[in-house]
Amino acid sequence: MAFNLKGKSLLTLKDYTPQEIRYLLDIAKQVKAEKKAGVVHQRFVGKTVALIFEKRSTRTRCAFETAFGEEGGHPVFLSTDDIQLGAKESIEDTARVLGRMFDAIEFRGFKQETVEILAKYSGVPVYNGLTDEYHPTQVLADLMTIEEEFGSLKGRKLAFVGDGRNNMANTLAVGCVKMGMHYVINSPKELWPSQEFIEEIKKMAAENGGIFELTSVPGEGLEGADAIYTDVWASMGEEAKAKEREALLRPYQVNEEMMKKTGREDTIFLHCLPAVKGQEVTFDVIEGKQSRVWDQAENRKHTIKAIMIATLL
Ligand code: CP
Ligand code: NVA
Repeated sequence: MAFNLKGKSLLTLKDYTPQEIRYLLDIAKQVKAEKKAGVVHQRFVGKTVALIFEKRSTRTRCAFETAFGEEGGHPVFLSTDDIQLGAKESIEDTARVLGRMFDAIEFRGFKQETVEILAKYSGVPVYNGLTDEYHPTQVLADLMTIEEEFGSLKGRKLAFVGDGRNNMANTLAVGCVKMGMHYVINSPKELWPSQEFIEEIKKMAAENGGIFELTSVPGEGLEGADAIYTDVWASMGEEAKAKEREALLRPYQVNEEMMKKTGREDTIFLHCLPAVKGQEVTFDVIEGKQSRVWDQAENRKHTIKAIMIATLL
């Protein structure tokens, strides 16, 4: 079913219904098939997107640039070393100026508030390319990868093992329970999300036929999982906490033994990347036959193209 999402921003997956997420995944599937078949479209001719990066990126930047550029659009990369965002000019004013020149804005950075202000003042769709709180374009690619592997999302179980309160754990919580999945966070209590967020996700799960659980014993709650997901122990901007995190998270490393706790041989391993091999995941697991991390990375491009098609055309 088609939805009219023209003009809509993607700041967090909370703003999208399960049916809208389904619609985006269907477009992504179609654009991926077209790309593989060599079908060329020029859907973004005459359009421009501003790509603002306060933090580094390989996948997100390249996905936006190639997805937009190969459809005839003109992406403009703006690092915060180059523009005045919040430095000599307020975020509100920057938003108003960019909104007069660009058809859309992508923002990656620290505060969720920044991406919200950009959306409020620019008047064009704004895409969250990662903040400290959320990484919605990543989770669209993750859902696509799970569906490609197993043919469905509803009732599938994903266990996130590691830092249970970072942007990835948060966004997976929203995406998984909205799609009626069983989502488990296996993380030390020190790194659990806030009680308020837990209550919000539990409510969302109840509304959408999903399940949300938290466990703190390393490796607990993984039985029967379709996917095991992990992320770095210290996210961008948290480098000073690296030692403390290593001490807390070492027992939660995703290694062969941890993968076996699912009791299944066909459980897939997922990671948003970049990965620190030997920390949150062993070399054997990320390079092993259960790993789908490169498909996940590729799917960033197809899902990002899908969100731009849905909101710009
Ligand atoms: N997964 C992800 O967002 O990767 P980048 O930091 O390379 O964009
Ligand atoms: N949690 C990680 C995700 C990187 C894509 C970070 O914020 O650095």
